[in-house]
Formats: sequence, C-alpha cells, structure tokens
Amino acid sequence: MMNDATPVSGAARPAPTLPDAQTVTEVKHYTDRLFSFKCTRPATLRFRSGEFVMIGLMGDPHPETGKQKPLLRAYSIASPSWDEELEFYSIKVPDGPLTSKLQHIKVGDEIILRPKPVGTLVHDALLPGKRIWFFATGTGFAPFASLLREPQTYEDYDEVIITHTCREVGELTYGANLIEEIKQDELLAELMGPDFHKKIRYYPTTTREQSPKMGRITDLMRSGELYEDLGVPPLNPDTDRAMICGNLAFNLELKELFEAAGLEEGANSKPAQYVVEKAFLD
Ligand code: A2P
Repeated sequence: MMNDATPVSGAARPAPTLPDAQTVTEVKHYTDRLFSFKCTRPATLRFRSGEFVMIGLMGDPHPETGKQKPLLRAYSIASPSWDEELEFYSIKVPDGPLTSKLQHIKVGDEIILRPKPVGTLVHDALLPGKRIWFFATGTGFAPFASLLREPQTYEDYDEVIITHTCREVGELTYGANLIEEIKQDELLAELMGPDFHKKIRYYPTTTREQSPKMGRITDLMRSGELYEDLGVPPLNPDTDRAMICGNLAFNLELKELFEAAGLEEGANSKPAQYVVEKAFLD
C-alpha cells in the first residue's frame, strides 16, 4: 500500500553508474551522418541559451589496467534554457572516438554530462541591435536551436535571420522541422507573444545536392544574393548583430566578411556586434 513516505518518482530508475550520469529520453536519426537526442537535466544545472557543456561516455577499458576514463567532447545545448530536458544535435563520425559510440545510444541509456555550461554565443556578448543573424553549417545549427526558442531573442530584436548551409538536403531536416515546430508551438507563443514567429526568417542552402537555394552562404553574401532574396540591406554595424557556428574555415571566412563590414567581435566581458563558436567535430 502507498503511504506518504513511499517515493513515487525515481524509485524505479536504476542507480546511476557513471559520474555525472544523465538518462537518455529520446533519440532521432536524420541521415547516416546526423542524429539528435534528449536526456534528463540535472536539477542544479542553469545555463544561458547558446552555451555548451562537456558530454560523453566511458571509454574502452585500458588493455592492461582495465581502467576506464570518461571520453568527453564539447556539445552545444540545443534546447532552450527554460526546458526541463536537454537536447543535443550530433554528427556521426565512423571512426570518431566518441561519436562512433554515441550514435548507438538508446532511450534509457546513461551519458556523462559535466554541469558546467560555457560559451560565447549568448545574448550578453552582443550590444543591442535591430536584426540578429544566426549563421550555421552542419551541426553548427545546435546553439541556434536553443536561441530560436529563447524569449530574449524576440524581445531584443525586430528580425531573426537564420541561415543554414549543408552539403545535402537531408542534413537540413533537423533545422527545418524545428523551425516549423517553433512557429506552431503554443507554449512558445505564450512565452514570447502570439506574433513572435513572424520575426523568423529561415534561409537554408545546400552545396552538393540540388535544392531551391544552392551555394555557400559566404558566396551568397559576397554576391549580394542573400540580401536581395531576403529584402534586407547588407550587414551594418549600427543595426545588425550576428552569431556564427560552423566549421573552422567557415567561421574564419565569415569573420573576415563581418570585419570588412565594420562589425567587431564581442565577448561576455565586452559585448560588441558578433560572436563565433566552432561546431563540435569528433
Ligand atoms: P562545401 O560542400 O562547398 O564544402 P562540412 O560538412 O564539411 O562541415 O560542411 C558543411 C557545409 O559548410 C557544406 O555545405 C560546405 O560547403 C560548407 N562550407 C565549408 N567550408 C565553408 C566555408 N569556408 N565557407 C562557407 N561554407 C563552407
């Protein structure tokens, strides 16, 4: 019989066996290179939308000592700061030390999550502006999946433009689905006001498979096609703010374009016009 002293939740859960263990609650695969998953959130974890944490699994036992060490990598938290679960978006690298294993996780499995969030892709690192640009390639979409669900994004800006460049169309699915869900989410509308979704402009492009918009975003910026398509003026340090998350070459190229347009790089300690973070690669 149940009485007041009977624990009603958590009792059936196995005791955590890993340090900083969290339990996987959902896994979705998009392509043979991409998947996303959700896990429980430590009760004490507070983070700002756009930050990352170290997550991972136990490595293989040492051949002689049998000892196992945690295998950890930086992952942007893809869920917003108010959500009760945590979401991550990951690449699968066949011989990647972590992702070759992580891609096989299932609901109920445990992962390691170090509850120390950090990162530069946060609103605090930008000065006030009119329009915010999120530029992503591949899994670099993850921090923006968080920021696109963050009320402050819509409080601070009149327009939110997210560009996502991938090799193939299937690699756009996670972001495209998420944006559709955001636009129809009643809880988000309650938090951010019913018209918040009208501020979102989504600009997906592919480089190696046919899609409605082909080309690297950097080339589309240089040619002016991006601005023409969206009907907005080119980047201007007075009005535009930007966050970048992609591979290294992409980040560097965009930085050059921003600097040429007169934008300065910001940080938590010194807010300015744009911020950069490298997407996780195993
Ligand atoms: P491309 O196919 O022309 O290399 P990856 O999967 O290699 O990280 O690349 C993800 C996307 O980012 C691809 O569409 C790729 O285009 C694009 N990309 C790679 N490097 C750059 C760069 N320096 N500037 C702009 N886009 C880039």
